Amino acid sequence: MLVAKTINEFKIARKELKGIIGFVPTMGALHKGHLSLIQKAKEENEHVIVSIFVNPTQFLEGEDLDKYPKKEIADKEICSVAGVDILFMPTAQDMYSDDELKLLAPKVRGYVLDGFNRPGHFDGVLQVVMKLLNLVNPNNAYFGKKDAQQLSLISQMAKNYFLGANIVPCDIVRDSDGLALSSRNIYLTKEERTKALSIPASLQKATQIIISGELDTNIIKNNMIDILNKNVSSIDYVEIVNRDFKKIEKIELKNTIILVAAKVGQTRLIDNLWI
Ligand code: PAF
Repeated sequence: MLVAKTINEFKIARKELKGIIGFVPTMGALHKGHLSLIQKAKEENEHVIVSIFVNPTQFLEGEDLDKYPKKEIADKEICSVAGVDILFMPTAQDMYSDDELKLLAPKVRGYVLDGFNRPGHFDGVLQVVMKLLNLVNPNNAYFGKKDAQQLSLISQMAKNYFLGANIVPCDIVRDSDGLALSSRNIYLTKEERTKALSIPASLQKATQIIISGELDTNIIKNNMIDILNKNVSSIDYVEIVNRDFKKIEKIELKNTIILVAAKVGQTRLIDNLWI
């Protein structure tokens, strides 16, 4: 595996790689969720490129940019064992210049839910993903469904800007206790982790209600909020939307996403369920 730490090194290595390329952009602190994206990319492409870049522009003032978990040695080992061809680890100085041209998330879809709670977050995500896709020029780029809104906005960007990469959605990976894997789970104390399990539990409750035949989204949301209120420190949102991220009154089979964002202690967690 070649590790490229500058854009120049990366460009030289990228030129040598011929054939179908799969790309997995990450912020590092890799876990089984990332590994499942890398494995899928391995299965579906001739070569795989992974990037690790903790992108400053997607963090808001006061968020965890400085303490975001870093595990460079373990990450390199995971990528190497997984058969990654190039690991790209650029610096912020290399990726950004002083007076940057900005990309803005779409007015409606980019500023609801996480876009409302973290204004500007998706502008930063789109900016860095556009840069990475232009540098890597992959055939396929892999993104997890856990970041459902991010996935949707990146797919829209690829479409609106006629990008060559096919954006591939990948299933959420959960720990054996049901908690969706996230690099931020590392912040949770044992007690907080137990409380955090109310997040997947609330989504399970939603599933049970829907299976019982109840499709009214307000009833489903209220049941979920009841479970969360007993456990989490605060709820950012519990929302039920269609695949265009518009709120819906009734569950639409094969076109619904149920989303939760909540804080447990100081840690903000998100999770969702695609129906
Ligand atoms: O999902 C992430 O890890 C990040 O938002 C991404 C897509 C790598 C952009 O920094």
